[in-house]
Parts: sequence; structure tokens; C-alpha cells
Amino acid sequence: MQLFSGSSHPLLSQEISNQLGIPLSPLELGVFPDGEIKVRVLCEVRGKDVCVIQSVARDPHFTLMELLIIIDALKRAAARQVIAVIPYFGYCRQDRMDKPGVPITAKLVANLLVQAGVTRVVTVDLHAGQLQGFFDIPVQHLYGKEVLLKKVQEQQLSSCVVVAPDIGSVKIAQAYAKALKADFAVMSKERLSAAEVSEAILIGDVTGKDVLLADDMCSTGATLASAAKACREKGAKRIFGAVTHGLFVDGAIERIKNCPLEALWVTNTLPATDQWMNSPQLKTVSIAPLLVHALREAI
Ligand code: R5P
Repeated sequence: MQLFSGSSHPLLSQEISNQLGIPLSPLELGVFPDGEIKVRVLCEVRGKDVCVIQSVARDPHFTLMELLIIIDALKRAAARQVIAVIPYFGYCRQDRMDKPGVPITAKLVANLLVQAGVTRVVTVDLHAGQLQGFFDIPVQHLYGKEVLLKKVQEQQLSSCVVVAPDIGSVKIAQAYAKALKADFAVMSKERLSAAEVSEAILIGDVTGKDVLLADDMCSTGATLASAAKACREKGAKRIFGAVTHGLFVDGAIERIKNCPLEALWVTNTLPATDQWMNSPQLKTVSIAPLLVHALREAI
């Protein structure tokens, strides 16, 4: 097995490489003067199984295209199997036609990956588990909960209620509740715009209890902030959060800072920004051991 890293998250790639004990293989990555992506595989891969690590994140168009081009280069250099390790699978939220005239971009991306030559995908917390069915190749779907749960347990929450901050996160929150043997509640909210949500309405009881808000991702932070506020108003004691993917787009960390969340555990499926690193509320947990475990099984 040879490991290659795209440019989106070199720190995580290095961590995976160190834990697997397999060095990262040389790959030239750059940009032509006109902005097109330039890739060259600088080692022999003929007949070998290779693995490319790339989160489709931060600059999703660039990182997706770069991933596709790396895969093409590896296939043309006669690699046998190509495993795409995609810790954060960008574009996965556009997974159904919820209104006329919209694309199913997640399916398009799945097609592109398979067409480029991927033979197996390893990824974490797809927005909806059903997305695995978009691929006709094996998909190892991992759960960020596996690494986050330990940190949550260390906090020793008292009479904890796990709250799903919206209907979409019910499944993930239920999984936390089951693992923590905690009660469960759910928020009902409406998305008003990309960065705004309506006031959250709590269905369940959090009075005098510690709360864990569990979701797959935090993007603008509007969902978590409004859920945390509603829990506080309903008399919750301490309020924590756990999310797998920290997109933290502009204003998110500020929104989190100004809401009643005491701490938010988040994995490093996406690279941390300076603002993320400097936020005392955000507690980063590495996803590398989970990916390494999956890769050991795949090798
Ligand atoms: C939605 O279905 C997801 O599970 C998250 O709740 C959502 O993407 C979070 O977005 P934001 O942080 O922008 O509210």
C-alpha cells in the first residue's frame, strides 16, 4: 500500500501516515499559470494498491478537482486499487431534489470519483447514510462518534440529555444517547437562509440537566447556537456540543462564542483555522485513529 496526500489537509495525512507506519509517497502538486491544477506522481505505482487522502473542504471545487486529477494520474501510472480517503465529503448535502430544478450534486461527485478510477471510498459521517448507495463500489462509512464519545464521557455529565439540534440530526443524536445511556430530546427549527435559522423549539425536557447537542457538522453555527439558547431558556444546566465536521464558515466561531455552549468537541476531518485553534471552546479530537483502523482492515 502506498499513501498519497492531496493538498487539502496535509497535517491529517501526516498523522495517518505516522500511525500506519507508511510514509507519504512523493507527489508533485501545483497550479499552472492559468490556474489549472498540475499533478505528477513521482514514484512507481504499477500494480500497487494506493490510497489518496483528501478532504473535499475549505475550497471544495479545487480540492475535489485535485482529488480527481490525482486519481487519474495514479490509474494512468497503472495502480491496481485506488482507495479514496475522504474525511469530509464535500457536496454531500445536495443529496436529493428537494425543489424543482436542483441537481443531486452528491450523486454527480460519486459518479466522477468512480469514473476517475476509485475502487473504494473511506469516509466519515456522510450527511445521510443512504449516500453510500450512490456508489457501486465499496464505501466504508465511519462515525466520528467513535472518537468523540470518549471525550464526552471524560466530562462526566450529570443526568445528561442528548439533544438533536434539528430533525436531520436525530439519528446521530440517538446514537450518542444510546452510547451514553442518556435521555433524548429534539429541536424543531426552520432554515430561513444559508446562515439563519428560526428560533428552535425543544421537544423534550432538559430542566436541571446537562445537555449534549450532537450533530454531523457545524457550518455557520446558527443551528447549534439557536439550540443551545433554547436549552438554556428551558433550564438546562451545562450545555456541550459534539460535531464530526467543523466547517466553521465565516462568523461561526463568533456565533458559538456568544451562545451558551460551554465546549464543543469536534474532529479534525477538516483542517483547523487559526480562529478555531485560538478558541478555548473548541476541543479538537483526532479522527486519524479511526481512519487508520479502517485502512488496516482494507489493506
Ligand atoms: C443539517 O442538516 C446539518 O445536520 C447541520 O445541522 C447543519 O448543516 C448545520 O449548519 P449550520 O451550522 O449552518 O446551522
